[in-house]
Amino acid sequence: MSSKKFYITTPIYYPSGNPHIGHCYTTLACDVVSRYKRMKGFDVMFLTGTDEHGQKIEKKAQEMGITPKAYVDEYVANFQKLWNRIGITYDRFIRTTDDYHVQSVQNIFVALYEKGFIYKGEYSGKYCTPCESFWTDSQLVEGKCPDCGRDVSDAKEEAYFFKLSAFADRLEALLSDEERGFLEPKSRVNEMINNFIKPGLEDLCVSRTSFTWGVPVTFDPGHVVYVWIDALSNYITALGYMNNTYNDFDHYWPADVHVMAKEIVRFHSIIWPAMMMALDLPLPQKIYGHGWITFSGAKMGKSTGNVIDPFILADRYGVDALRYHLLREMPFGADCPFTNEMMLTRVNSDLSNDLGNLVSRTVAMVIKYFDGQLPPDREPKPIDDELTSMLSALRPFVEKNYESLHISAALAEIFKVISRANKYIDETAPWVLAKDDSSRVRLATVLYRLLDAIRIVSVLLNPVMPNTMPEVWRQIGADESMTEWNRSDEMDVLSRSCRVSKGDILFPRFDIDKELEELSAIFSINQTTKPQPEKEVLSENVTKPFKQSIQYDDFAKLDIRVARVISCQKVPKADKLLDFILDDGQGQRRVLSGIAEYYNPDELVGKDVLLLANLEPKKIRGILSHGMILSADTKDGYRLAGISSDSEPGDEVC
Ligand code: MSP
Repeated sequence: MSSKKFYITTPIYYPSGNPHIGHCYTTLACDVVSRYKRMKGFDVMFLTGTDEHGQKIEKKAQEMGITPKAYVDEYVANFQKLWNRIGITYDRFIRTTDDYHVQSVQNIFVALYEKGFIYKGEYSGKYCTPCESFWTDSQLVEGKCPDCGRDVSDAKEEAYFFKLSAFADRLEALLSDEERGFLEPKSRVNEMINNFIKPGLEDLCVSRTSFTWGVPVTFDPGHVVYVWIDALSNYITALGYMNNTYNDFDHYWPADVHVMAKEIVRFHSIIWPAMMMALDLPLPQKIYGHGWITFSGAKMGKSTGNVIDPFILADRYGVDALRYHLLREMPFGADCPFTNEMMLTRVNSDLSNDLGNLVSRTVAMVIKYFDGQLPPDREPKPIDDELTSMLSALRPFVEKNYESLHISAALAEIFKVISRANKYIDETAPWVLAKDDSSRVRLATVLYRLLDAIRIVSVLLNPVMPNTMPEVWRQIGADESMTEWNRSDEMDVLSRSCRVSKGDILFPRFDIDKELEELSAIFSINQTTKPQPEKEVLSENVTKPFKQSIQYDDFAKLDIRVARVISCQKVPKADKLLDFILDDGQGQRRVLSGIAEYYNPDELVGKDVLLLANLEPKKIRGILSHGMILSADTKDGYRLAGISSDSEPGDEVC
């Protein structure tokens, strides 16, 4: 029997640094919805991945003297490692450097060109390099990039354009159709219409010639496809659209929901549906733009450096605690601060006190009063009714809220019922009933009501805390058939004479002061003070691990030579690049190096440097660089690698 399909996506993340808590939130939200849908019997396709092209990555790789692919490979692996660590059950992981994606994007570009929706022109505008965004003057905020607040610069080049303007009316109709509910939360709809569509949609620059790290335009060498056509297409190329690698497009498209944070809602609710219209494809059902996780008031992100290491939090407090906290704390659509203190406080109060205690007290009482197995007879009383009616209303509420990504609201309601169950223990006072032999049946009824309540809340919590809930089921003696999603609003599903088992503490309580002290030592930050640069925050970067060992033969392939600087100057409009002419002992060669921030060009003339002489030449900013100058990546930035003073240009380093 084929079940109903459900297709959900995260944005594809930039592997220009390590993933952080902000990325975790989006990916976790999608994971929860995917798990919930699977529990309901849906055939789910959960897609995530990485957006690997663009000038920013090209520049970073160049600064490190490695290829962009080698650069992104390392970070992509870290994204995948983190998703595995925090239990993300994605079905497919797309990299925009995957051959099939590149091929599809090229085909899509040609298709749009042939349909007349892409044409050649010249682009001039204000460009923010870190955000890879062009802005119109009216969009700038005090002359700066409206997304990141940095300086923008004038940019002009021959480029292809996508006729976005042709879709303005259809887009406005789509966004303002309340019944259709294309964009959630609704508050973002007016923002899109008033800020972007009403002032007049401009055609979109979709190719660049100023860098090479991108999908080449097949019919015009020198142009690479510019970010959004490449990135957005992932949602269909990953299903096999215009490629032969997958064959899932007809089955899964249109997407049921694309999830992202608010800063890229504009691209998803304007450019993406316009692309679908241009290609004559069905539109995605829904775009959901959540708020930001903030840290000391700013958006947590790689470029601002204020990141908290999710690996460390998962290792110290448990994956489920991290998952729960992020999903519980973030309200629908709004921003939400993250501090370790908030996380520990919530874990202690909700997980350890409320849920953990409910399970451990109940299981302990069944063991103490009935040797672990309840007798089958029951004696219900009116005092049970409030808890019972709350329990039976819970599933529809949670479903409605999981479906609409109001995960925090769903969790708040589940924990209301957990509190009510704890209160029920105090009201019914099983320890008093236990003193009187004539109350045995009533005592068993109370404990059974509690065990069955635990079953219901744990099934509903399973998408959020999938590691711990199976242990809860083991402790309360629930088998697989009793923990089916579709039975989470039925009462009395546990077997009448169920047997419980003792288990470890589900959620340990943490000494918050002690933990905060240890964490701040680890992160070398005090969360109440200004965020530190990323390198000092990310644990994996504190000490960079050594690379995998290699054979001598691998090393012998490197031709490292002493070279003398004949001339050196800054590359115009490139903050980080120096342009060298070197004497390599056999002649002169031109080499670019990303050390301009750390050296004055004049001081380098006449100095000897170490040169990787047989690195394949590479065009950087239109200049062909023949090799790489070696530097140490120190805490103060790059410093040229040292050489003894009696060496001569051309001497080999071995
Ligand atoms: N590559 C583009 C997206 C292309 S999608 C076709 C991109 N990448 S990104 O690495 O910058 O990721 C942005 C997304 O990461 C946000 O939209 C959000 O989903 C998630 N988050 C990154 N930082 C975040 C917070 N501080 N808070 C919440 N989510 C955050 O944009």
